[in-house]
Amino acid sequence: MQDIRYTHSVAAELDHLLPSLSADRLFVLTDSTTEVVCTPLIASSRLLADAPHITIGAGDTYKHLDSLAHVWKSLGEGGATRHSALVCLGGGMVTDLGGFAAATFKRGIRFVHVPTTLLSMVDAAVGGKTGINFNGLKNEVGAFCNAAAVVVCTDFLRSLDAGNLCSGYAEMLKHALLENSSMLADHLRFDPFEPDYVELQRLVRLSIQTKQRIVEADPREQGIRKALNLGHTVGHAFESLALERKPVLHGYAVAWGMACELYLSALTQGFDTTTLHSVVHFIRAHYGRPDFSCDDYERLYDLMRHDKKNVGSTICFTLLGGVGDVRLDCHVTREQVFDSFDFLREA
Ligand code: GLY
Repeated sequence: MQDIRYTHSVAAELDHLLPSLSADRLFVLTDSTTEVVCTPLIASSRLLADAPHITIGAGDTYKHLDSLAHVWKSLGEGGATRHSALVCLGGGMVTDLGGFAAATFKRGIRFVHVPTTLLSMVDAAVGGKTGINFNGLKNEVGAFCNAAAVVVCTDFLRSLDAGNLCSGYAEMLKHALLENSSMLADHLRFDPFEPDYVELQRLVRLSIQTKQRIVEADPREQGIRKALNLGHTVGHAFESLALERKPVLHGYAVAWGMACELYLSALTQGFDTTTLHSVVHFIRAHYGRPDFSCDDYERLYDLMRHDKKNVGSTICFTLLGGVGDVRLDCHVTREQVFDSFDFLREA
């Protein structure tokens, strides 16, 4: 099981856990935002007081080879050895890229993630997926490599904007759908527009537990880890379409994708329609609707046919027979996919 540390003091927790790595040198990776906004939270760390900070650009457009090369170069110039360690302080972009830089530098140094967004706490930082975008494709190059530890401080969430909170919350809703009805009911009761931070902290722990349970059963996504793709087959198509127009946050696309894929679950796997309507009502209220029309259906379908999770050009869906009843590698017809788009537009 991956080592997850929950804390209200990142600096104290890092000073507590870093000695167990026996690193000869420590480095901190930030992006231009977390360097300003989040480094004060590790400023009192005794062990990181002299650690060089390596800073890359903020945002997914910087999740590329040049940033990766910058991290490798800075580690080398800073005297990093195989026994050094990297602390990645940031959202999913920093933890994905930093994890990959660490996994590959001198064939691998240890790293600790300190996720600063909801999305990275409940998803990106947990489970060992690392990587960068390449050749216009998201997460095209990477490696499975677990962080030595993940330090989760939900206090970061108090300063997160509403859009990013909702975005991360979509992955939590997904985890609840993969778990059980009681967890789903708790998630549908929560209002990400008016967050109760004490309740959010409880739900974040549950969410991480679900992700850990699934990843532990199938670390390299040969089987049950594909459950975590719920909402992502259609979601990635919405995200890619939006990139051609007005980009949307990942979790919004996943929420819309989940609405479509739950509709397909009801149509083909017997998923309960009352639950479908409650979840879709929540998604509609908190994520609105994507900006697309029936003229976009073919393009969306084409984007889905190129999803890297497919086998050949057959689109593979993760669907549900019920809450917690996961059905992997499902196939549906093109007409059923188009019906799900109609459903989302009319919901
Ligand atoms: N984000 C999905 C996974 O970690 O498998």
